[in-house]
Amino acid sequence: MAQAGSAGRGAAGQKPAGAAPGCALWRWALGLLWLALAAAGSSRRQWPVPYKRFSFRPEPDPYCQAKYTFCPTGSPIPIMKDDDVIEVFRLQAPVWEFKYGNLLGHLKIMHDAIGFKSTLTGQNYTMEWYELFQLGNCTFPHLRPEMNAPFWCNQGAACFFEGIDDIHWKENGTLVQVATIPGNTFNKMAKWVKWDNETGIYYETWTVQASPEKGAETWFESYDCSKFVLRTYNKLAELGAEFKKIETNYTRIFLYSGEPTYLGNETSIFGPTGNQTLALAVKRFYYPFKPHSATKEFLFSLLQIFDAVIIHRQFYLFYNFEYWFLPMKFPFIKITYEEIPLPNRNNTLSGL
Ligand SMILES: *[C@@H]1O[C@H](CO)[C@@H](O)[C@H](O)[C@H]1NC(C)=O
Ligand SMILES: *[C@@H]1O[C@H](CO)[C@@H](O)[C@H](O)[C@H]1NC(C)=O
Ligand SMILES: *[C@@H]1O[C@H](CO)[C@@H](O)[C@H](O)[C@H]1NC(C)=O
Ligand SMILES: *[C@@H]1O[C@H](CO)[C@@H](O)[C@H](O)[C@H]1NC(C)=O
Ligand SMILES: *[C@@H]1O[C@H](CO)[C@@H](O)[C@H](O)[C@H]1NC(C)=O
Ligand SMILES: *[C@@H]1O[C@H](CO)[C@@H](O)[C@H](O)[C@H]1NC(C)=O
Ligand SMILES: *[C@@H]1O[C@H](CO)[C@@H](O)[C@H](O)[C@H]1NC(C)=O
Ligand SMILES: *[C@@H]1O[C@H](CO)[C@@H](O)[C@H](O)[C@H]1NC(C)=O
Repeated sequence: MAQAGSAGRGAAGQKPAGAAPGCALWRWALGLLWLALAAAGSSRRQWPVPYKRFSFRPEPDPYCQAKYTFCPTGSPIPIMKDDDVIEVFRLQAPVWEFKYGNLLGHLKIMHDAIGFKSTLTGQNYTMEWYELFQLGNCTFPHLRPEMNAPFWCNQGAACFFEGIDDIHWKENGTLVQVATIPGNTFNKMAKWVKWDNETGIYYETWTVQASPEKGAETWFESYDCSKFVLRTYNKLAELGAEFKKIETNYTRIFLYSGEPTYLGNETSIFGPTGNQTLALAVKRFYYPFKPHSATKEFLFSLLQIFDAVIIHRQFYLFYNFEYWFLPMKFPFIKITYEEIPLPNRNNTLSGL
């Protein structure tokens, strides 16, 4: 989830099959991925469905125009001296605090980031991952009259900049040190961030599970600001960082459903040989939701989703640039603020 007043450049929108030559690179990137997936074997479904990594990040489509510039004060990640000691901070603040004060803080819809401070220079830094075109655009597509397929502006990316705005994080959120790392661990992490940023290119709002119970099957994992923070912590732990023992909770937006059914990609559903009934059903589902509206309207759209989902018990999920049908189950949608513990040293997670 984006921090208020940040965000914005063009997005990973897709066009229908054979739309424009500008799509060629994008298609090529997708093609590589499918090759990789084919090699992994497509016979049996794997849950949760692995988030696809791309060979590079494409330029966002010019249709996607950010209301707030993405990463306006971004700077390159500095190279730290080997003998430097870097403090690592957990940063958390309510989403859209800029506009709505602590309102969403009470709803516990929080944005996560990481802070760093160099002992040698005294300089500190903030690192976060968020939507290029805000949450609404990453959750719902645009239905463009001139295009058959829904159009997504759903890129997300990492942003690194100088400074930590203590008041922003502390006042209605959290600013707490979680680890201390040597300079060369920071430099190794920076390399990994570059790779992660180039290959993990789109935002995913929803976590989809079979039920709210512990141990319930997870069908899809979200890919958002908190997941980036968790991946980074895990990377640091893998590099030998030791974390403090403190409670760390995160916001997750859940959908609950029975086993999802794979429907196809944009071409196979909305292309010339696609199933028109299905294409129409997907578009009809998305029709009430307005992606361009941020903030208040997004919450309104969430309520509408709730309605649609309860009455019709169905949801069309867009994940890895493919569509899935979710047979929705009670309690349908939930926003939680639950603990995900800091990693143990050497506790290597590969899936995230
Ligand atoms: C969402 O995308 C639309 C289409 O590009 C754009 O007009 C709008 O500004 C975006 N919303 C935000 C909050 O950036
Ligand atoms: C924290 O919340 C209060 C009450 O909603 C608000 O007035 C204040 O501006 C918020 N702090 C920051 C740094 O935005
Ligand atoms: C991540 O990628 C975006 C989009 O290309 C870029 O603006 C940003 O600077 C990159 N972030 C880092 C930390 O390299
Ligand atoms: C970051 O640096 C600024 C400017 O020196 C300072 O005001 C702030 O307290 C620092 N924050 C942290 C968490 O180190
Ligand atoms: C979409 O799916 C079809 C059929 O499964 C496949 O042949 C095609 O390559 C896919 N399209 C893209 C853009 O990946
Ligand atoms: C087309 O899609 C509809 C709705 O998903 C489905 O009921 C129908 O069986 C599909 N038709 C074909 C020929 O696959
Ligand atoms: C954090 O999550 C745990 C359970 O995961 C819960 O017991 C606790 O109340 C949560 N803390 C806050 C501040 O919400
Ligand atoms: C972490 O792994 C290294 C090498 O695999 C090992 O030497 C070290 O003892 C491990 N540390 C902990 C805390 O498990």
